[in-house]
Amino acid sequence: MAIEKIGVVGAGTMGNGIAQIFAVAGYDVIMRDIKEEFVERGLKTVAKNLDRLIARGKLTAEAKDQALARIRTATTLDGFGDRDLIIEAIVENVEIKAKLFRDLDAVCSGDAILATNTSSISITKVAAASKRPERVVGMHFFNPVPVMQLVEIIRALQTADEVVEQIEAVSRAVGKTPHTVKDSYGFVVNRVLIPMINEAINCLYEGLTSPEDIDAVMKLGANHPMGPLSLADLIGLDIILDIMETLYRGFDDPKYRPSPLLKQMVDAGYLGRKTGRGFFRYN
Ligand code: CAA
Repeated sequence: MAIEKIGVVGAGTMGNGIAQIFAVAGYDVIMRDIKEEFVERGLKTVAKNLDRLIARGKLTAEAKDQALARIRTATTLDGFGDRDLIIEAIVENVEIKAKLFRDLDAVCSGDAILATNTSSISITKVAAASKRPERVVGMHFFNPVPVMQLVEIIRALQTADEVVEQIEAVSRAVGKTPHTVKDSYGFVVNRVLIPMINEAINCLYEGLTSPEDIDAVMKLGANHPMGPLSLADLIGLDIILDIMETLYRGFDDPKYRPSPLLKQMVDAGYLGRKTGRGFFRYN
């Protein structure tokens, strides 16, 4: 089965980025969210990011119009019957995802592949909620989606080899570099990256130095493009806490204990860029 028609569920930061890269690469895309205002905001973000590419001479105005014309928006799954690949980028809640996968089973063709962009939930558990567990796979993109090269492909215990091969091929077709790993808590990138960020938060908690200096030393001393606290604000502190808790509970290992300061920041609603305040302030 050739993958030509894409369904993206969730029009937030990750969902609209995913819709954008597929539309630019020539795929027919439906981007769905639960409210009209969410899909409108998602589409506006895509238009803004395409303008950024035009300003840098990487896209023509004509290609922008063509890409936007390839994205249809929806607030239901009614149009998903002809989709070859559905990528889910909704809220990180296993019950809500399981319900979505059951709903997708009901509307999608039996051949369709159901992918999840989850950053911390077990792909094996999500697959178990579907009637086609062998066609469920993790397709983990990185923020900002149009910029980051990697697609981390996660093979659930149930995923068929042919599905992994198709997802590797389609990732290359949208200009990304796929790497396939087995399902485990945090997969590989987040298992390595998120405890590093958590440790940076502990350095702040212990008063070693200021947030600005923690970021500065990691940029200067480890050549990171962005300091760990700025990166935490970009990813979202609620997401960082979710992933730390998944690692902590999953491996039952105290080395993954979430920083008390991280928990406090989330309790305060200081979630990073999306709320205008995290370790730094945003307009
Ligand atoms: N959307 C689209 N494009 C963007 C963008 C955005 N939000 N932000 C920056 N860009 C593009 C710019 O247009 C520019 O493109 P070109 O080089 O092609 O001209 C390029 O990115 C670099 O941008 P800038 O020069 O403005 O800024 P920068 O050099 O500081 O780079 C950055 C910005 C790409 C975000 C860089 O700081 C970076 O790579 N940071 C680390 C990001 C990272 O680690 N992401 C992974 C997070 S983990 C995750 O997402 C997974 C999870 O499950 C939690």
